[in-house]
Amino acid sequence: MLKVPFLDLRVTDSVERGEILTAIETVLDHGRILLGPEVDELERRVAARTGREYAVGCNSGTDALIIALRALRIGPGDEVIVPALSFIATANAVSLVGATPVFGDLNDDLNISIESVASLVTPATKAVIPVHWAGRMCDMGALSDLARHKGLHIVEDASQAFDASIGDRKAGDYGIISCFSMNSMKVFASLGEAGILVTDDPQLHERCVSLRYHGLVNREFCTELAQNSRLDTLQAATLLVRLRRLDNVIETRRQNARYLNGRIEKYVDVPRESEGQRHVYYTYTIQADRRDDLSRYLAAQEIETKIQHPLLMPQHPVYAGRARGTWQKADRLIKRVLCLPSNEKLTAEQLARVADAVSEFYRS
Ligand SMILES: Cc1ncc(COP(=O)(O)O)c(C=O)c1O
Repeated sequence: MLKVPFLDLRVTDSVERGEILTAIETVLDHGRILLGPEVDELERRVAARTGREYAVGCNSGTDALIIALRALRIGPGDEVIVPALSFIATANAVSLVGATPVFGDLNDDLNISIESVASLVTPATKAVIPVHWAGRMCDMGALSDLARHKGLHIVEDASQAFDASIGDRKAGDYGIISCFSMNSMKVFASLGEAGILVTDDPQLHERCVSLRYHGLVNREFCTELAQNSRLDTLQAATLLVRLRRLDNVIETRRQNARYLNGRIEKYVDVPRESEGQRHVYYTYTIQADRRDDLSRYLAAQEIETKIQHPLLMPQHPVYAGRARGTWQKADRLIKRVLCLPSNEKLTAEQLARVADAVSEFYRS
C-alpha cells in the first residue's frame, strides 16, 4: 500500500541538498560561526519581506516570544490575552515572563475571536497575542482597531504563518513586535530550531538584541538577566537557501489544498480563504464529523494524520483548574479538527489517495 506520511523532514531534492551543503561549506570556510554574516543577511531579508525595519534572529520561536514580551516590559501583575488553541509555547512564553495568560475563544476558522478578546480586557491587560493558526491570518484589521482603542500591544505569534497575507499586508506586519518559528516542521524551516522577531521601533530592536544574549550591551556590559537565545549561523545559512525556494513550496501547498478542497468539501468542512487572504497551509486542517473514526480509518490505510491539538492550552495540567478566560466554542471545535497530509513533497498519487480515502469513509 502506498504510504502517505504527514511530513517528511528528509532533504530529498538533490538541488536543495546541494545548495544547503554549499551554504554550510561557506560557513565552514569563513569561520564566523556565532552571529555570522548569514544571520545578518537573513535578518535583512526577513525584515524586508515582512515590511518591517528590523529583524532579530533567535534560537526558537518560543525565545522570540519571550524576548518580545520582556522588551515590552510585560511581567508579574500583567495579563496577556492569547487564543485558547495554540501550541503551548504561546501561553508558556507569557507565564515564563511572570505574566498571566488569559485564554480567548475561537472563530470557526480556529483563530481568536475579536469579541472574545474585547470581553476579556481588564485594567491589567497589557497585550494580546494573536496566533495565525495553521497558516491563515487572524482578522488583524479588527484586532488592531480594538487594541488601539483599549491601549494594548499586539505581539503577533506568526510562527505558523510566514508569508501568509491579507491584501498587501503580511503576517508579522501588525505587531509592535512579531515573532516567527522556523523549527524544522514549519513551511519556512531550518534544519533544527530557529526563530526570528521583527519590529519597526529602533529602541525595541536594540533591547531585543540585548535580551537575545544575556542582556549585554556593546557585548561587554550586562544590564539585565537574560539567556542565550542567538540564532545559529548554520541555521541561518540553511534558511537563506530555503527562503529562495519558499514561493514554490507555498504555491505547491496551496495547489494541494485547492485539490483536496475540491475533492472532499462535500464531506467535511475544508479550510477556506476569505477575500484577499493568502493561507500558507502550515497544516491542511479540516473539521469533520466522526473525526476519530475518520482518523483511524485513514491510519488503517497508512495515511498519517495529526490532531493539532487534542487539548486546548488552558486544559494542559500546568494551567488546568487555574486558567482564566473563555473557550466553550474552542472546546467544541477541537473535537472536530484533523490535519491531513498535504505537504509539498506528496505526489499526485499520494494526494489522490488522501482524497479517495476521505470520500470512501463518508460514502460507506
Ligand atoms: C503557534 C506557535 N507558537 C510558538 C511556537 C514555538 O516555536 P518554537 O518551536 O520555534 O519554539 C510554535 C512552534 O511550533 C507554534 O506553532
